Amino acid sequence: MLNLSSPINHTFAPHVDTCYVFHALWLAMQPWKWRKGKEQEKLREALEQYFDADVTLFASGREALLALLQSLKVKEGDEVIVQGYTCTVIPNAIHATGAQPVYADIDPETLNLTKETVEPLISNRTRAIICQHTFGIPADTEKLRTLCDEYAIPLIEDCAHIIPDVKGPKEIGKYGDYLFLSFGRDKAISGIAGGALVRKGPRMAGKFHMPNTFQMPHSKTIRLLLYPLIYSFARPLYGIGIGKMFLWLCGKLGLLVPIMTNNEKKGHMVMTFHEIPNAIAGIAVAQFQKLQLINDHRRILTQLYLQACKDNNWKTLDGITEDLPLQKFPLFIQNADSIRNQFKKYNIHLHDGWTGCTIITESVHAKTIEKHILNLPTHPTMTNKQAQKLIRSLKNIHQ
Ligand SMILES: Cc1ncc(COP(=O)(O)O)c(C=O)c1O
Repeated sequence: MLNLSSPINHTFAPHVDTCYVFHALWLAMQPWKWRKGKEQEKLREALEQYFDADVTLFASGREALLALLQSLKVKEGDEVIVQGYTCTVIPNAIHATGAQPVYADIDPETLNLTKETVEPLISNRTRAIICQHTFGIPADTEKLRTLCDEYAIPLIEDCAHIIPDVKGPKEIGKYGDYLFLSFGRDKAISGIAGGALVRKGPRMAGKFHMPNTFQMPHSKTIRLLLYPLIYSFARPLYGIGIGKMFLWLCGKLGLLVPIMTNNEKKGHMVMTFHEIPNAIAGIAVAQFQKLQLINDHRRILTQLYLQACKDNNWKTLDGITEDLPLQKFPLFIQNADSIRNQFKKYNIHLHDGWTGCTIITESVHAKTIEKHILNLPTHPTMTNKQAQKLIRSLKNIHQ
């Protein structure tokens, strides 16, 4: 079916609007500024001021985590507790140090690990606990803090899905010893790539050992900078098939940088660290300056979906409140996968990459959740009108 409307999606450059495209092109035209420049410092200073903490930038969130684990001297024979519902790259970083990830079950109403699920897993080999604020739903870091103090274990907050703003959530970033951020293309804010390690409080200051870093090859930086242009061309043509073909061609020509390499999908991570390119930092800092706007938009869509859940008796999570700027809105439904497939003919693409790359352990809740979860987009280019259309389509299909 030909469809000329803009696709509803999670992964077609969700942060990219016209202004973003021009900014990336402007940076692409100044290759002498790709690697080094003022933008790196600007981003670091902005984050340091915001979190009132020491910040180190990396080319991705996973590298920030690995550098932290290495600095904490996590090694073979050690264990790091992480939740059983997370992105493959997190256990990959733990494995890369030689340590073992130990998976904690999640609370089915927040999708986050809890003090209760973590405590029985603590042993004398535990070197850190990583708590994730899944889709922007805050984990109970206050209780986890108490637990970590009791056992003298550092608490690491994975903030890939949310950066709090002045409206909150206030507990995010308050109790962790470390936070790591991701500026990946579908994250809380997006520099197309990039990440940061935030070291909080005087206890953590000066304790970090920076690994040797390499510069990102120009060939990769230019491909990242072209990503907004490629997707802004493909997106409106997706419904008539041309966009899909164009993206396929760009993929074949090697113009797209995959979010995960094949090696990473198989569970490996190379112990190599990269500086965030100055051009990428430039985009991330522009996004960080818009954090309030981005989060407010996410809050509006969160409220809209919450209301639809109430009106239609759809199952969502008790942990979701109207004030949360969710990165995605999870809803639980029979045959989630079949619905995602049926939606494609209406130019609605709810495969979100996350569902395919999560680690699902034996933990009871993670397993059932993966089966029934249907994530709805809340990103900056998802309009209110599209969200209403999505709700109507879901009602029709789910009668
Ligand atoms: C929860 C979570 N943490 C961390 C990451 C890693 O971020 P990055 O892609 O910047 O390495 C991801 C990403 O995909 C994620 O979903």
